[in-house]
Amino acid sequence: MQMDKQRYAVITGANGGIGRALCSAFNDEGYQVIALDRQETPHSDLVYKKYIVLNLFDYIQNEKYAADKNLEITAVLSQNQLHCLVNNAAIQVLGGVTSLTRADWNTTLAVNLQAPFFLTQALLPQLENTKGSVVNISSIHAKLSKPNFVAYATSKAALSGMTKAMALDLGERVRVNAIEPAAIATDMLKAGFSGKPEQYQQLKDYHPSKTIGEPNEVARLAVFLASEQSHFIHGSCIDISGGISSCLHDPD
Ligand SMILES: NC(=O)c1ccc[n+]([C@@H]2O[C@H](COP(=O)([O-])OP(=O)(O)OC[C@H]3O[C@@H](n4cnc5c(N)ncnc54)[C@H](O)[C@@H]3O)[C@@H](O)[C@H]2O)c1
Repeated sequence: MQMDKQRYAVITGANGGIGRALCSAFNDEGYQVIALDRQETPHSDLVYKKYIVLNLFDYIQNEKYAADKNLEITAVLSQNQLHCLVNNAAIQVLGGVTSLTRADWNTTLAVNLQAPFFLTQALLPQLENTKGSVVNISSIHAKLSKPNFVAYATSKAALSGMTKAMALDLGERVRVNAIEPAAIATDMLKAGFSGKPEQYQQLKDYHPSKTIGEPNEVARLAVFLASEQSHFIHGSCIDISGGISSCLHDPD
């Protein structure tokens, strides 16, 4: 008896705050999730079909490592269909113009920018088979930033730019879009405000919405961008920011 091919999504940075929400949301939508992360052990809350340990810095630095990891991923997909790649993993190396090192730049651009490109390139045949899509998780820092975020902000601006350029390059073959979140209430962000409820409230109040985002809001937007309902959305960088990306801050 012929088995129906299953619909798969590949998600990087799966073990993180937004990554776990992405894995749950795609799973809820009927996708089988291949979860990729550099961490050896999947988080206890992570929902996935297959967990693959993959360090994206090594993936960029070492072609043999990348080829082996590509084989590991495509072996899972051989009898199945890949409908979406979510490039979600990123690192945030903080530092200003006088302190950032070459190593800081290399790791930031490798993980945040080059890995999304080369992972897409590796999975292009599978994505083309389904007329699937790529969703890049960029950041509000692609457009609005602050001191000490030079490396991170540059990598996210480039990721958003790459999203548009890849959409033109791939045309009707594979859709490519990006999500640019502002503050999202991951465990890590909330831990930073532990014992400081007034500062956490100030952060919320700073947004026109008087809230900050939840990981599952980013995840549901990614599911929508991967779906056929969004077939005309291509090369778009969509912010999810509670309105803060429309604010002009003048002195009082
Ligand atoms: N949380 C926010 O407020 C926020 C806002 C805007 C954008 N974002 C973006 O959302 C995405 C997810 O962020 P998050 O808040 O969930 O971060 P997080 O730190 O909780 O998760 C990042 C995940 O990526 C993995 N990772 C890091 N380096 C890796 C590497 N070299 N190889 C493989 N995996 C690696 C980590 O192990 C971790 O599981 C990132 O692209 C981030 O820039 C987050």
